[in-house]
Amino acid sequence: MGPRVLGIETSCDETAAAVVVGRRVLSSVVASQIDLHQRFGGVVPEVAAREHVLSINSVLDQAMTQAGTDWADLDAIAVTLGPGLVGALLTGVTAAKTLSLLHGKPLVGVHHLEGHLYSTFLAEPDLEPPFVCLLVSGGHTSVVRVDDHGVYKTLGQTRDDAVGEAFDKVARLMALGYPGGPAIQQLAAQGDPHRYILPRGTVENRFDTSFSGLKTAVARLLQKDPQLDRADLAASFEWTVAEILAQRVQAALEHTGLTTLVVAGGVSANRRLRERFAQLAQTRSWRFIFPPLSLCTDNAAMIACAGAERWRRGQVSGLNAQIFSRCSLDNYDLTT
Ligand code: KG4
Ligand code: ZN
Repeated sequence: MGPRVLGIETSCDETAAAVVVGRRVLSSVVASQIDLHQRFGGVVPEVAAREHVLSINSVLDQAMTQAGTDWADLDAIAVTLGPGLVGALLTGVTAAKTLSLLHGKPLVGVHHLEGHLYSTFLAEPDLEPPFVCLLVSGGHTSVVRVDDHGVYKTLGQTRDDAVGEAFDKVARLMALGYPGGPAIQQLAAQGDPHRYILPRGTVENRFDTSFSGLKTAVARLLQKDPQLDRADLAASFEWTVAEILAQRVQAALEHTGLTTLVVAGGVSANRRLRERFAQLAQTRSWRFIFPPLSLCTDNAAMIACAGAERWRRGQVSGLNAQIFSRCSLDNYDLTT
């Protein structure tokens, strides 16, 4: 069965609440602010913070009602403490602390990236570490060795832009709107991925990535020829990203000797990435696992699932748990 946990997520531009029982989702409500931020071409922190305040109560109500759960039935309340926008995190954490106090339920702080990682457990309840995880979101690009629940070793990360950020910036250069990932994917579907040869970024550590040169190369091509075929450019960009990431996970699996890869974060929704990885997995008899599309981008079911696992291990936070804007996954301690 597993513990019954309410999860709350407000680290960026989605106000989300969900109830899970262990690795089973009873409800998952996400109020997206994408429409609000679209006209600014990206997330505006102050707008995000204000919107969370407006949405949080009704999102919580919906999640509890849809799950058919009473407050008394909950074992714990899990909430994202960071990394993220501090003003945005504050709403979710304040709600979680208040509810924890009011209903006498333990508060479990969750690292947002750990949440993304646990989105995979919701799709594959029998999955257990060790495995390698590729976290690809708007804020992160990390290759992580997961030795056990809560035991992480980051092998590499981005030296500059996160991969989702690269999608968003390139989409902006091409006037495709926000968020960039789905827009580029759509345009790229009609393009030739081999039309433009783009740089893959130079890094010292073979598990690290660098996307700023790739973005600049796209900008230069657009400047030189504003009439160029945008579908071909989008496809070439997307293909190059998939190649860069395939190279990193191949190196990480060979290095660790592990045979299972979990891909998580918003960019794991990308179709070309999924196809490229499926091909790589097949040639090497590796097992690659992606979360379902509905759980790739930010949601609270993944936070509740990660919280359930932390609760099971007795890693409960106090009411003075602190929000953080940055912190590596390897050695964070959310129990104080
Ligand atoms: O994990 P997420 O929802 O939020 C963060 O924690 O950052 O990831 C959002 C990122 C955005 O940069 C968005 O452009 C990207 O994920 N994304 C995609 C796709 N869907 C979302 N990138 C490529 N292809 C997609 N289909
Ligand atoms: Zn995220």
